[in-house]
Amino acid sequence: MVELVSKIQKVSMFLTEYFADAATYFRYCGISPFQDKTRKLFYKILIEAHALEKGLSLANPRSLFGAAKIRFLMKAVDRYDLTFSRLPGEKVCGIFHAYIDLHSKRAVNDPLLVEMAAFLDRYEKVNSISPDGGLRRLDDETYDEFPPAARLLVSRHSNRMFADETLARSDVENIVRIAQSAPSQCNRQSCKAYFFQNRDDIDRLLKLQAGSTGFSADVNNLFVITSDLAAWGGAQQRNQAYVDGALFAMNVMLACHALEIASCPLNLAVTHKVENAIKQVGSINEGERLIMMIAVGRPVSRGALKVARSPRRPLAEILVTRMANERHAL
Ligand SMILES: Cc1cc2nc3c(=O)[nH]c(=O)nc-3n(C[C@H](O)[C@H](O)[C@H](O)COP(=O)(O)O)c2cc1C
Repeated sequence: MVELVSKIQKVSMFLTEYFADAATYFRYCGISPFQDKTRKLFYKILIEAHALEKGLSLANPRSLFGAAKIRFLMKAVDRYDLTFSRLPGEKVCGIFHAYIDLHSKRAVNDPLLVEMAAFLDRYEKVNSISPDGGLRRLDDETYDEFPPAARLLVSRHSNRMFADETLARSDVENIVRIAQSAPSQCNRQSCKAYFFQNRDDIDRLLKLQAGSTGFSADVNNLFVITSDLAAWGGAQQRNQAYVDGALFAMNVMLACHALEIASCPLNLAVTHKVENAIKQVGSINEGERLIMMIAVGRPVSRGALKVARSPRRPLAEILVTRMANERHAL
């Protein structure tokens, strides 16, 4: 009897915890009517601006790409409150400069470019903006302020320009052997790395992923990272597959970087239907949770390589301290 009650309690906890997840997500997510407007706009601008920045980092972006996003961003940053964080304003301006630059090199003229220049002229002056976004200048980066081991971390970047080359099995095995150094809860090591090189498999998988538009044809090596749900039990562990999975995926990217192999994480923010379709194409066990895809390979030559700048938020917006020598009001 006691056992039966305990089982019923465990099962009902699944329902209450998943319900609480849904309620919290609905209350605080970026499309919730209850979320703060400035906070929502902050993320919306960063996301939309990143799409443009990503476009700039492709091998051959279409002239005047993303016009609707540009028009949205001009209006959005104008109504955005920079006292929340200056990054959206700085990032949009940096990207607009890089966009105008690209088109002036191509001798493209269009009213959109004139509008952007006028916007920059006014917005930067009125708000004293130092633009920060567009393309990363890898040759100018020295990382001198960091100790040598930390330079591996700060020099990693997402790469979207791959050479037309498949990796050798020994490279793939080395990446995964190094990535296995990732910590995992109770050392249960639930993660798996599925690796694909077949053109047809990659095309089908990337079509279901949808975040590699513009460079999917250049992806010749692709990982799909998963976590085995059998490693987890009880409602309180419901998200741990993602925690261990993300740590393992990060280690795959750092292992690649250490081996001078480029990588680009590719989101799997998909519905169950798409997740199941990906599992079918990749012959992935039904009982595994998909974490993310990672495109890997040799990058194109340094001279031809373009990398999105992806500027980071200032430390003060990220680091919250409760130091021993500081007093805090409750
Ligand atoms: C979970 C996750 C999903 C991502 N999905 C995509 C994607 O679908 N397509 C893409 O081009 N980049 C994707 N990225 C790469 C991010 O845009 C990139 O990490 C971010 O702009 C920071 O730049 P960096 O990686 O060069 O430091 C993803 C990154 C993460 C962590």
